[in-house]
Amino acid sequence: MKHAGRIIALTGGSRGIGRAITERLAAEGAHVVFTYVKDAAAARKTLDAIKEAGGSAEAAQLEVSDFEASQSFFKDLVGRHGRIDGLVNNAGVTADNLLLRMKEEEWDRVMNVNLKGAFNCARAAARYMVKARSGKIVNLTSVVAVTGNPGQSNYAASKAGIIGFTRALSHELASRAITVNAVAPGFIDTDMTAGLPGKVREELLSRIPLGRLGTVGEVASIVSFLLSGDAGYITGQVIHVNGGIC
Ligand SMILES: NC(=O)c1ccc[n+]([C@@H]2O[C@H](COP(=O)([O-])OP(=O)(O)OC[C@H]3O[C@@H](n4cnc5c(N)ncnc54)[C@H](OP(=O)(O)O)[C@@H]3O)[C@@H](O)[C@H]2O)c1
Repeated sequence: MKHAGRIIALTGGSRGIGRAITERLAAEGAHVVFTYVKDAAAARKTLDAIKEAGGSAEAAQLEVSDFEASQSFFKDLVGRHGRIDGLVNNAGVTADNLLLRMKEEEWDRVMNVNLKGAFNCARAAARYMVKARSGKIVNLTSVVAVTGNPGQSNYAASKAGIIGFTRALSHELASRAITVNAVAPGFIDTDMTAGLPGKVREELLSRIPLGRLGTVGEVASIVSFLLSGDAGYITGQVIHVNGGIC
C-alpha cells in the first residue's frame, strides 16, 4: 500500500492508460480524484471497478483546456480533502493530419488539451503543493515527442512541449521538495492505437524491438513508482516505456 492515505488527482481516468493508472493507485491505497470530459459511462465503470476492488476514488467532469474550470476543480478538491499529494497530467487527444491538410482547429485542439491542459492543472495544483512543501507531478508525454511521426506534427509538438515544461517545472519547484517527471509511452494498446489501419500497425510492430505493443499496466507501474517515496530523488526526468524504440 505505497500510496496509503494519499490524495492523488489524475486527468483522463475514464479510459486507457489513465484508467489503468487510476486503478493501480487506488489498489495501492490512494484516494484518486480522476476526471473525464465526455464519457461519463466509462468514468462510472472505472469507479465501479475500483470500489469493487475495495479502493477509494471519485470522478468529476473537467475540460482540461479550460483555465478557469481547472483552477476551480483543484480549489474544490483541496477544499474537500485538505491537500493534494500528487497530480498526473494524463488527458490527451490526437487529431492526425499531414501538415498541408491540417486545419487550424486540429492544431489548436491538440495543443490546448495536451499542453495547455497540463499547464492549467499543474498551475492549479502546484499552488497547494508549494504551501505544503511536498508533492509529485507526473506528465504523460510520448515516444513521438522524440522520434517524430508523419501526420502528427501537432501531437508531437504538444508532447515535446510537455518535456520542456516538465524540465522547467522541476527546476522551479525543487526548492519546495516537489518532484516533476514525465513518462513517455511508446505504442500502447488503447483506444488511441486501436484505430490504426492493419498496414500501419504491422509497420509499427516492425520498429519495436520487443515486437509488441505495450500494455496500460506497464505504463501505470512506472507512474505509480514516480509518485511514490521510492522515487524521491528523481526529478526533471523522462522515463521511456516503449519496448526499446530509439
Ligand atoms: N495509447 C498510446 O499508445 C499512447 C502513447 C504515448 C502517449 N500516450 C499518452 O497517454 C495519455 C493517455 O492516452 P490513452 O491512449 O489512454 O488515451 P484515451 O484512451 O484516448 O483516453 C483519453 C482520456 O483523456 C480524457 N480526455 C480527452 N480529452 C480531454 C479533455 N479535453 N479534457 C479532459 N479530459 C480529456 C478522456 O476522457 P473521456 O473518456 O471523457 O473522453 C479519456 O479519459 C495521453 O496523454 C496520450 O497522449 C498514449
